[in-house]
Parts: sequence; C-alpha cells; structure tokens
Amino acid sequence: MDTSFERSELTKVEWLTPPELVRKLGLFDLDPCSPVNAPFLHAINNYTIEDNGLTKVWEGRVYCTPPYGKDMTLWLSKLKKHGNGIALTFARTETKCFFENIWDNADAILFVKGRIKFYHVSGIQGASAGAPSVFIAYGKMNADALKNSGIEGRYLDLKL
Ligand SMILES: C[S@@+](CC[C@H](N)C(=O)[O-])C[C@H]1O[C@@H](n2cnc3c(N)ncnc32)[C@H](O)[C@@H]1O
Repeated sequence: MDTSFERSELTKVEWLTPPELVRKLGLFDLDPCSPVNAPFLHAINNYTIEDNGLTKVWEGRVYCTPPYGKDMTLWLSKLKKHGNGIALTFARTETKCFFENIWDNADAILFVKGRIKFYHVSGIQGASAGAPSVFIAYGKMNADALKNSGIEGRYLDLKL
C-alpha cells in the first residue's frame, strides 16, 4: 500500500488527522466530513460523503479537516458562519480561500511545526505530508483550546 502523502491532494481525499492531535484540542460534537469506514472518530456525531455534510445542519463544537480540492472554501465558509469549531488545512496562506475565510474571520491559527503524518483509512499512519498544516479556530473558546493544546507550532491570535 502507498502510504506516502503525495502532492496530488485532489485525488487523495481520505487522509485522516492523527487522533492524538485532535485529542489535544478537547471534545468535539461533530465531524462533518468523516470517512465512511473510519478507523477512529474525532467527534460524537459524524457525517460522511453519503450524508453530504455540507448540506447538513451543524450543531455544537465542530472539528473539520475538509476534503482537499476546490470545495475546500465551501467547508471553511460554513465553519466560519457556524462560528464554533476548529479546522485543519494546508497552510496555503496566499489563497482566495484563506483570505475569504480565515485571515479576517478566524479567531486564531496555529502553524504546525514540522509536517503532520496523516493516517490512511486502513488505520496505518502515512509518511509526512507534502505541505505544512495549520489549525484554524473559530470562536474564543476554540482559540483558547488551540492556544493551550500543547500542539507544537506557532500560535497567532487574529483578533488582537
Ligand atoms: C481529509 S479527510 C478528513 C477526515 C476526517 N475529518 C479527519 O480529519 O480525520 C476528508 C473526508 O471528507 C469526506 N468527504 C468528502 N466529501 C464529503 C461530503 N460531501 N460530506 C461528508 N464527508 C465528505 C471524505 O470521504 C474524507 O473522509
């Protein structure tokens, strides 16, 4: 099995956040884009591609690592409007998506030190990602959770 995280993110949508990282952020009510056959879950409630989490009502504290590709902005836009949750994406800080949903809207971000080793749906951890990652917090409570998470990286308060 290929466990490398290639640059072809558009076709590699099933890479999962290491559960040990999400645990550092506390308990989540909803993961709106979870794999169909998940080896582990990040939240109490989970939507999959079969539910189409984008069309559902989101309730409570959300953890969202959106599917990579052109629809990423739709997921971040929905989380921005929801206002309560943490997202994880590649740190493509120059993009329209970042400017429209994060720089002026999120409460805080944390640039992860090093490269995350995402998990395959088989439950096996892959090699280091092909790009740096950033956590994005919406809502003061989530900004505080990110700040106090102990995840190695550089935390930035965007509401200062
Ligand atoms: C990058 S993975 C992240 C998975 C998980 N949230 C995590 O962080 O470990 C994106 C996931 O979104 C799922 N997905 C894709 N389109 C979706 C949709 N419309 N509704 C819900 N889930 C979707 C994929 O099947 C994939 O498991």
